[in-house]
Amino acid sequence: MGRLRVAVLGASGLVGQRFCEMLSDHPFFDTPALFGSEKSGGRTVAEVLTIPEPRISDELLSARISPLDTDSVIRENFDAVFSALPTPVAASVEMGMMQRGARIFTNASPNRMRADVPLVVPEVNHEHLSMVSGKKGFIVANGNCSSIGLAIGLKPLETLGLMNVEVTTMQALSGAGYPGVPSLDAAANIVPFIEAEEEKLSQEIPKMLGRLDGGAVIPSAVNVAATCTRVPVRDGHMESVSVEVGRETSVDEVSRLFASFSSLPQELALPSAPAKPVIYREERNRPQPILDVNAGYPARARGMAATVGRLRVEGRHVRFIVLTHNTIRGAAGGSVLNAEILRSKGVL
Ligand SMILES: NC(=O)c1ccc[n+]([C@@H]2O[C@H](COP(=O)([O-])OP(=O)(O)OC[C@H]3O[C@@H](n4cnc5c(N)ncnc54)[C@H](OP(=O)(O)O)[C@@H]3O)[C@@H](O)[C@H]2O)c1
Repeated sequence: MGRLRVAVLGASGLVGQRFCEMLSDHPFFDTPALFGSEKSGGRTVAEVLTIPEPRISDELLSARISPLDTDSVIRENFDAVFSALPTPVAASVEMGMMQRGARIFTNASPNRMRADVPLVVPEVNHEHLSMVSGKKGFIVANGNCSSIGLAIGLKPLETLGLMNVEVTTMQALSGAGYPGVPSLDAAANIVPFIEAEEEKLSQEIPKMLGRLDGGAVIPSAVNVAATCTRVPVRDGHMESVSVEVGRETSVDEVSRLFASFSSLPQELALPSAPAKPVIYREERNRPQPILDVNAGYPARARGMAATVGRLRVEGRHVRFIVLTHNTIRGAAGGSVLNAEILRSKGVL
């Protein structure tokens, strides 16, 4: 299989810079073409950097960002277009580009719940990707960054029967993009509300955990109630999860389910797949964003593993904490891994 030509829309933003990391020296994809708004147009990636300790190749650091012109993106006929556009911009351009033949892997929310758009967390519901097979243009959506972490935490427990889920999120500041939350709201503070976030968790999890029937997703019956908060952490969404499952279980059984969890990306040994998608920690004080946000190996999969800890089980009630890197596993890395799956299946 030859190398694929790809583009990143919103390349100067927090998620866009993570795309630059994930696509640096990638074995499947050429150095991407980069697009932003007029603001970053003409500047290099090195000139717009806002992420800490970027792992971006010299070639990409010196690459120039062009102002987005959707006609030229369509004309270039990229094999895959990675989108990190803000919601209103994505709402106005992504569907039109798809109808003109673009194969879009988006992180924006407007099209996530459309019946013809698979909402895919690679290790959770990679089979939903078959919805785009044989289509010239398509959109594959990533979920909300907290939904992705929660879906990875819930998937290993599916065999126990998932019934009711209560989750309280502690979401990093980078989840709001750059410059994001005003400093006087963020510093030494917790904001107990994030616009439209709780609804996204309640709606997206049943779709992600749904089953495919005749090309359509039948949502899971799992019921999700969420409380979303913003905390003064730079990167990493932590979630305190309480799940009612269908039968009595034990710490032994649940810890084994977490520790042994594996899926198609691991089987295919894809470049961005973490060897262990869930890292289960027994220590009472883990996970912590500062220690665990970049979990995942080999090096290319840094930030791609979810860390689960604080496991407690009483009868049919399972409680745990899950931590994921919001702009890597919760955004750019998830899109790149979805594209790697489609490339390995010959769809791209
Ligand atoms: N941050 C997260 O943790 C996270 C996680 C999951 C999903 N998401 C979603 O991913 C998307 C990007 O988030 P982000 O955090 O990276 O936001 P961000 O830091 O604000 O970056 C936004 C990007 O979009 C570009 N842009 C803005 N207006 C544009 C326009 N009119 N035409 C073309 N490009 C335009 C910006 O370019 P300029 O710099 O040139 O203006 C920048 O590259 C959003 O839809 C967000 O909801 C974010």
